[in-house]
Amino acid sequence: MQNTSWVPIFPEQASTFAWQVDALYFYLIFVSVAFSIPIIVAIFFFSIKYRAREKFATPEEIHGSMVLETVWSIIPFVVSMTIFLGGAIIYFQQYTPPEDAMEVYVVGKQWMWKIQHESGQREINELHVPVGRKVKLTMTTEDVLHDFFIPAFRTKADVVPGRYTYMWFEATKPGKYRLLCAEYCGLNHSGMGGWVYVMEQRDFDNWLSGNVSGQTPVDAGKDLFQNKLGCASCHSGGAGQRGAKLEGIFNTDVKLVGGQTVTADDQYLRNSILNPASQVVEGYQPIMPTFKGQVTEEQLNSLVAYIKSLSPGAASPSAMAPPAAPASANSAATTKTEPVKPAANSNK
Ligand code: CUA
Repeated sequence: MQNTSWVPIFPEQASTFAWQVDALYFYLIFVSVAFSIPIIVAIFFFSIKYRAREKFATPEEIHGSMVLETVWSIIPFVVSMTIFLGGAIIYFQQYTPPEDAMEVYVVGKQWMWKIQHESGQREINELHVPVGRKVKLTMTTEDVLHDFFIPAFRTKADVVPGRYTYMWFEATKPGKYRLLCAEYCGLNHSGMGGWVYVMEQRDFDNWLSGNVSGQTPVDAGKDLFQNKLGCASCHSGGAGQRGAKLEGIFNTDVKLVGGQTVTADDQYLRNSILNPASQVVEGYQPIMPTFKGQVTEEQLNSLVAYIKSLSPGAASPSAMAPPAAPASANSAATTKTEPVKPAANSNK
């Protein structure tokens, strides 16, 4: 990784966020320097000028100065508000994933990153993404807290057990960039990292179609739902079903027993699989068994992806490149899901 940023101690700027974060950072440095230097100069100047103590023992009294007080109120106000606004704007952008982003699933584990694409492609400690496309990561962990950090993209987010967290970015130039874990997570924390490969769309499509290593998350989820876990026996959606109808449910507000309303998002679906009794949809009995301990985080991702796919309008449109991997979806249907399988990334 060559370093081309103009201050060599900084990582490359390789995402749309990078220049914004750096600009804010340089502004903070500028403000710190602009205040520190006059203070240091004044300390030396005064200690020399007023060193004859007796002569200045009784200083002249000052009875306030409107000009001075206005100036030292307005300048810090402007400085602190620009820091606040700059930080808030960048923060809201970074943690509001756009609707049209391509989705990637990330599962952290001591001490590796397991990644799966919408097409089913899996990778470990590597993430291949196309340049100039918005990419949204849906992340969770099998064990402890981790933190997904790509310095060249100037973005990171905690990965938290028991819930989903998200981050997104748009890479601006092809290359190979460090991927790190930025939350101390045990013995081999420092080794929990890898590389992000930013590729031209064409190369990415090639990569994607060249390494089919399993079912798509939606297909895997469908298999679990209909066969392996038997969810369909209660949730197939017909009249008189014991389980709530799941078609079209994603991102809608559902009424719960007890009168609350909740949005059926990823987090809700996940929670309903693991703790079914906690948020029961109105009109149904709390009879669903928990699947805690029976499904892995990756299987949960697949189930959620499948249930989302039952709500075509609400789910974020699958932004996979249209011509990519035409064979994968069909041929994958016969393949068994491997829990973890490092994709043999041949063409990089
Ligand atoms: Cu995972 Cu540090």
